[in-house]
Amino acid sequence: MSRRPSTSTQRGIGTGSLGGTFHPKSSSRRLLSKTLMFLGLILIIGYTFRDSGGAQVKESLARIEDDFTCTSEVQRAMPYLKMAYGDSVHKVLHVGPDTCSVVEKLLKEEETEAWGVEPYDTEDADRNCRSLVHKGIVRVSDIKFPLPYRAKSFSLVVISDAVDYLSPKYLNKTIPDLARVSSTGLVIFTGYPGHSRAEVPELSKFGRPAKMRSSSWWGKFFVQTGLVENEAAVKKFEQSATKSSYTSRCQIFHLKSYD
Ligand SMILES: *[C@@H]1O[C@H](CO)[C@@H](O)[C@H](O)[C@H]1NC(C)=O
Repeated sequence: MSRRPSTSTQRGIGTGSLGGTFHPKSSSRRLLSKTLMFLGLILIIGYTFRDSGGAQVKESLARIEDDFTCTSEVQRAMPYLKMAYGDSVHKVLHVGPDTCSVVEKLLKEEETEAWGVEPYDTEDADRNCRSLVHKGIVRVSDIKFPLPYRAKSFSLVVISDAVDYLSPKYLNKTIPDLARVSSTGLVIFTGYPGHSRAEVPELSKFGRPAKMRSSSWWGKFFVQTGLVENEAAVKKFEQSATKSSYTSRCQIFHLKSYD
């Protein structure tokens, strides 16, 4: 985007100085016309590059849009989660890649306590994130194993993306354990089938490609694991989302904590 204005400025300056030096009665007319041709060529090349640059920028923007994560969707959905869960949003645990982004945002809001579990490495974490890890607010922890929290430590547990990288064998342990540490509910953000986002560099980080399961697959899974949908929360969430014309790019499941 920034290339466009700078090119047009250059073009403006070029035309101006050409107008100034052009003098038909000059003895070096041939040299001048050659210079003009040369400058013209530069302008054409500049133009071509500008266009291809623009196309590249557009392409990469499209890729970024296509490459959203459900963790970023948690942030978009947060106002509606608040409408659905009210006071229960005061003590939240978020679990998923890039959890720092969610925790930072939640901590900025009044009367919200937030913690995070980052299931993968934080090598590329920024300073704020490293500080959250240092303070123990965000933990780097393999979610294939029981979480280091007591039962019902949080009112609401929100998980995004992470479940897409777990096989059913581990899901069988991980999802009930997430429910265990929540007192009101568990909200799961997961990709829609057919929207695979796993790029090659990601594979080394997550260990296996993401597998997006259908809502009927998840429905059966929740029955098997003894989890019940929180119908009241679903209704309130959908009502407030519809009012604001919000549509999620991820599947969202609202489940009740165990009694
Ligand atoms: C997960 O648990 C359910 C019920 O508890 C069981 O039927 C299923 O075989 C388990 N899946 C795996 C892969 O262990």
